Amino acid sequence: MPTAASPARTASALAGRMSAVNEMTRLLRLLFEVEREFVRTAPTLVYRVGEPELKYLVCQHVWESAGHARFLRERGRELTTFGSNETVRDPIRRIFSETVGRNDEDPLMILAGFYEVLKPALLAAYRHYLKVTDPLADWPSKKLVEEFIADEERHQREVAPYLGGGDAREWKLHLTQALDDMGGWLGHETRLPLAATYVWQHEATPYTHPATCNRGKYPVCSGVFGLDPAEDPIVRPWLTDPKTDARVIRLMVYVWLMMEMDAIDYLSTVFLETPAAPFDLHYDLARHLWDESRHSQFGFRQLPKLGVDLMTVEHSLDLYNILVHLPPHERYAMMTMEFEANSFPTKATVMDRVRELNDFEADTLLAFDRNDEQNHVRYGHRWLPEIMALFDEKRPPEEFVKATKEKFYRYAEIYGGKVPHSLPRERRLTGEKILKLAGV
Ligand SMILES: [Fe+2]
Ligand SMILES: [Fe+2]
Repeated sequence: MPTAASPARTASALAGRMSAVNEMTRLLRLLFEVEREFVRTAPTLVYRVGEPELKYLVCQHVWESAGHARFLRERGRELTTFGSNETVRDPIRRIFSETVGRNDEDPLMILAGFYEVLKPALLAAYRHYLKVTDPLADWPSKKLVEEFIADEERHQREVAPYLGGGDAREWKLHLTQALDDMGGWLGHETRLPLAATYVWQHEATPYTHPATCNRGKYPVCSGVFGLDPAEDPIVRPWLTDPKTDARVIRLMVYVWLMMEMDAIDYLSTVFLETPAAPFDLHYDLARHLWDESRHSQFGFRQLPKLGVDLMTVEHSLDLYNILVHLPPHERYAMMTMEFEANSFPTKATVMDRVRELNDFEADTLLAFDRNDEQNHVRYGHRWLPEIMALFDEKRPPEEFVKATKEKFYRYAEIYGGKVPHSLPRERRLTGEKILKLAGV
C-alpha cells in the first residue's frame, strides 16, 4: 500500500487546508498595492494645485497612506502567501497612472479623480475586507483595517472643502470604468469589462511635470534670499549679524520656513518617476515630504500672527523651476546633500538668537525643524545610492554629488531668475518692512 502522498497532492492539500488564510492574504496584498500606488502618484497633485492648505493636506494623506501600506506589508509578512516582493500588478498600476492625467489639465479635476473615485473605492474595499474576514481568527488585520477605515473617512471629510471646483464628471466616469473593469480594487464587485473603444490616455500621452509649480492666488518671484533690504525679505547677512534685532530674525526665519513649500513642490516630483523604487524608499520620501509640509506650515501659520499679510509675501519658484530640468536622482541629491546638509550652521545661529525672545513656540518649531532636517540628511545617505542605481548611475556618490552641484548651478543660470516679481517693492514684504513689523 502506498504510504506517502505524491508531492502534487501534498501541495494541493496544503493550499486547501490554508485557503481561508490565503484568501484574506490575497486581499491584503491588493490593498497594499493600492496604497503604495497612491503614494507613488498622488504627490503629482502637490505642485499642480495652487492652494497651500491643499498641498499640505495631500502631503499628510500621502504620509498616512504610506503608513497604511507599511502596516499591511508587516501583517502580510506574517502570512506565507503575501509574497516577498513589493511590485504592483499592472491592472492596478495603470489605473493610478491614468488618474495622474496630463499636466495641462485642471488640477481640481485630477484631485476629483483621486478623491471621488479611487479613494472611495479603497474605503469600500476596506469595508468589504472587514465584512468577509473572521473577526477573531484574523483580529490582527481587522484592527488595522478598522483604523484605516477611520482614516479614509477622515480624508474624505478633510478634502471635501476643495472638491466640486471644476467639471470632473466625464473624467470621473472615465476612471470609474477602468475600476469597474477590475470589479473594484478587490474584484469583489460585478466586473464590467471595458469597451473596446476605451482609450488609456496616459499610454497615448505620457505624463511630464509642468515647467513651473502652482501657487494659486499668491504673489510669486524667483527667490527670497538677497542682500538688498529694499528688495528682498530675507537679507542674508542680517541672519548672522549679531546687531540684528532678534524679532527681525524670527520674522525672516518664518519666511524661510514658509518657503519650504519649494521643497514640497519639487520633492513631490520624485515619486512618480521611481516606479521601481523599494517601498521603503517611497516611505521615507513620504515622511520627508510631510515633514517639509509641516515646516512650511510653521511659517504660513506664524507670519499672520506677527502682523504679516500673506498676500504680500512672494513665493519663490526658482528651485522647482531649475530642479524640474534635472532627473529625479539629481533632484534628490541636491536636496539632501546640498540644500539640507548645508543649512545647519546658519539655522543654529538663528535658533540661538530667537531664544533671546523667550518665545517658546518659536523655539519649539525650530527645534523640531532641526531634528527633522537631521533625519532628512540621514535619508539622503541611506537612499542616494539606491536612487542612483535606479537611473543606472555608476559613479561613486561623492563624485556624482559634486558633478550634480556643478550641473545645478549651470542650470540655475539658464532656468533661474526668470520669474518676475508679482508685486512692486512698495507692496511686497521686504527686509525694510520686516524692520517696521518687528518694531525696530
Ligand atoms: Fe524642512
Ligand atoms: Fe528637509
